[in-house]
Amino acid sequence: MNILLLNGPNLNLLGEREPEIYGKTTLAELEQMVVSRARELGHTVRAVQSNHEGALIDELHQSRRWANGVIFNPGAFTHSSYALRDAIVATRLRVVEVHLSDITKREPWRRVSLLEEVCAHRILGKGAAGYLEALEWLVR
Ligand code: DQA
Repeated sequence: MNILLLNGPNLNLLGEREPEIYGKTTLAELEQMVVSRARELGHTVRAVQSNHEGALIDELHQSRRWANGVIFNPGAFTHSSYALRDAIVATRLRVVEVHLSDITKREPWRRVSLLEEVCAHRILGKGAAGYLEALEWLVR
């Protein structure tokens, strides 16, 4: 299977950004972890991070025929982006929504996900391990 690993805004700062909430694993380490596990299981991962909503939408569009599944942490766009929601529906991609923290137990504005309904599955609050769980779920 081909898997797109997509990370949204501010996730490039993983490791130094609020480590008490998001952990100490850097984005490079996290991507490497998912790529290695996928390789062991015989799958291919393309890892992309962007701080820009439009770039994330472009990536979903461009991957729509290549990817069999997407592991997506949309960062704060989770709570604001109808455009990303439309992109997931438009591309018919099978997306697992992943959050390092448990957004249902944080500030009220973070508890709302505009993407939840259009994603196939979601994993919350498991830190970096949540990305591996998403991979296993997609390839199962
Ligand atoms: C996050 C949660 C979002 O609310 C936040 O804006 C992020 C990270 C998480 O992984 O827990 O950037 O998606």
